[in-house]
Amino acid sequence: MRALTVEPLKAGSAEVREVPDPEPGPGELLVEGLALGICGTDHEIIDGQYGWAPPGRDRLVLGHESLGRVRTAPPDSGFAPGDLVVGVVRRPDPVPCGACAHGEFDMCRNGGYTERGIKQIDGYGSQLWSVEKDYAVKLDPRLEQAGMLMEPASVVAKAWDQVERVGSRSWFEPQRVLVTGAGPIGLLAALLGVQRGLDVHVVDLAAEGPKRSAVQALGAHYHSSAVGDVTGQLNPDIIIEATGVPDVVFAAIAGTAPYGIVCLTGVSTVGRKTRVDLGAANREMVLENDVVVGSVNANLSHYDAAAQALARADLDWLSQLITRRVPLDRFEQALQSRPDDIKVVLELTQ
Ligand code: BGC
Repeated sequence: MRALTVEPLKAGSAEVREVPDPEPGPGELLVEGLALGICGTDHEIIDGQYGWAPPGRDRLVLGHESLGRVRTAPPDSGFAPGDLVVGVVRRPDPVPCGACAHGEFDMCRNGGYTERGIKQIDGYGSQLWSVEKDYAVKLDPRLEQAGMLMEPASVVAKAWDQVERVGSRSWFEPQRVLVTGAGPIGLLAALLGVQRGLDVHVVDLAAEGPKRSAVQALGAHYHSSAVGDVTGQLNPDIIIEATGVPDVVFAAIAGTAPYGIVCLTGVSTVGRKTRVDLGAANREMVLENDVVVGSVNANLSHYDAAAQALARADLDWLSQLITRRVPLDRFEQALQSRPDDIKVVLELTQ
């Protein structure tokens, strides 16, 4: 079978290669890969900036935004041939740390976790893959076209979970949320905000195009002016930051209403310096009981929440987020960013 492979930390090493078919172990499903979403982390790995091969190997099978169809499943696994599934990304560290021991591997404390397609375990960018039944999540069969949005949706479900947990430390009835960045994470964060009945606003650099249409189709508000101007005008209770761009991050931190919560989800490029008035930001955070919380990855409860959110979403809206579908062998085209891209997907069956 063919798989998208890469030598981590070596730019330009990504190649589609012939690799042995997986042999599912006891308790594992064999899955036919249908599609794979490509995200910023994949770009970083391909650019040689991130990623770890499995121990003793040079190359890693890439891909963590999976979508597949079960070919074989162990009896009593709860899965059957034909089921639409995604695989969970992270596995607990082997020690395990307290968080991993409690099923909260998304909160791993010792950094010894592994991640499919990212850190030490092969990913889902292959025509067949196997997955432990406990790390497979069944999807609504209607999600055949858009189910690869499940992994980013799980990251967003976790971000919302963090916001709600932080908010619940005192009286909390948020009205207005601002999402910074209208990529897949930002748009899915907006969807989950609308599903919560909030007044949702999204700010992005693109003035026109599919991002604006996607936000408006949700019944949310789109802004393309400077983030500081938008926060000044809206005074949001919650900001979900989905760009990782330092100036935007800082504008978000400085831009909430009292008791504001900023949830950071974007992994920034390091080494770009910017001058900020941290004293002013600290003063405001203290005097307003503001919180800034970082959020990464997702555990099984967040996959469940994401599956429910996607099942409730309008299918045409979800499909609108997938702006290009590229056959596996032409993966290089998928990696060339175009201005109107939201989510680019590799088709694994072609
Ligand atoms: C993935 C997460 C992962 C993180 C760090 C993100 O792109 O969506 O699941 O934990 O990268 O490796």
